Amino acid sequence: MSYIVANQVAREFGQGENKVTAVRRIDLSIGQSEFISIMGESGAGKSTLLSMLGGLLSPTKGEILVGDINIYALKRDKLADFRREFMGFIFQSFQLVPYLNVIENVQLPLAVTHHSEADKKKLALSALERVGLKDKALRLPNQLSGGEQERVAIARAVVNEPPILFADEPTGNLDSRNSEEVMNLLKRLNSEGQTIVMVTHSRRNAEYADRIVEVADGCISVSKPIRAAAC
Ligand SMILES: Nc1ncnc2c1ncn2[C@@H]1O[C@H](COP(=O)(O)OP(=O)(O)O)[C@@H](O)[C@H]1O
Ligand SMILES: [Mg+2]
Repeated sequence: MSYIVANQVAREFGQGENKVTAVRRIDLSIGQSEFISIMGESGAGKSTLLSMLGGLLSPTKGEILVGDINIYALKRDKLADFRREFMGFIFQSFQLVPYLNVIENVQLPLAVTHHSEADKKKLALSALERVGLKDKALRLPNQLSGGEQERVAIARAVVNEPPILFADEPTGNLDSRNSEEVMNLLKRLNSEGQTIVMVTHSRRNAEYADRIVEVADGCISVSKPIRAAAC
């Protein structure tokens, strides 16, 4: 069953001789609770595709459906509400706020919600528990390792339990040990039902997913499952 569908999407930037075609034409269908990796060279169009799937950038052609909702047909504020409820984001450059402690960072997305302060704290602690950092809730980001900081960013992305998690190069700044820690966490969240769409340069990290989609020059060149389906 398709959960997220890209229907012949394309995205251009600029006009005239400055025109860049970032995504030429992509059809893609992602199932509920699937973990998919998007690979490809720098400039291939991976981040543009991810932003379109995640409701952050409208395609110049085609449509994105999430659970049968044509998301870019929604009014701007409805799309923002939809994104908040259904989607969590982790970016390589998505820094933690340095002067807020871990739990305060994780609570940030809840600021605009109607939860009581006590409930916000409870939700943030539960997200920290899921990423194994409950005991470090009161630390400042610079008192954590790189992998732990990324796990805080993941806790922040999943604090309101969005069904879909988008990650753009989540281990881009991490060494191999910290990368492995983050990838194992994503794998575990996925096994608990989290749908994950991740862009990565690393073949090794990509193989944590159920399926790898390779993007080249704004098109999908290969889409293949990592393991044969169990029979
Ligand atoms: N906001 C933008 N304005 C102009 N060109 C852009 C913009 N975003 C991306 N591009 C261009 O689109 C192409 C694909 O970019 P991107 O999706 O970021 O690739 P990737 O994530 O695979 O490295 C690149 O040529 C890039 O320079
Ligand atoms: Mg990119």
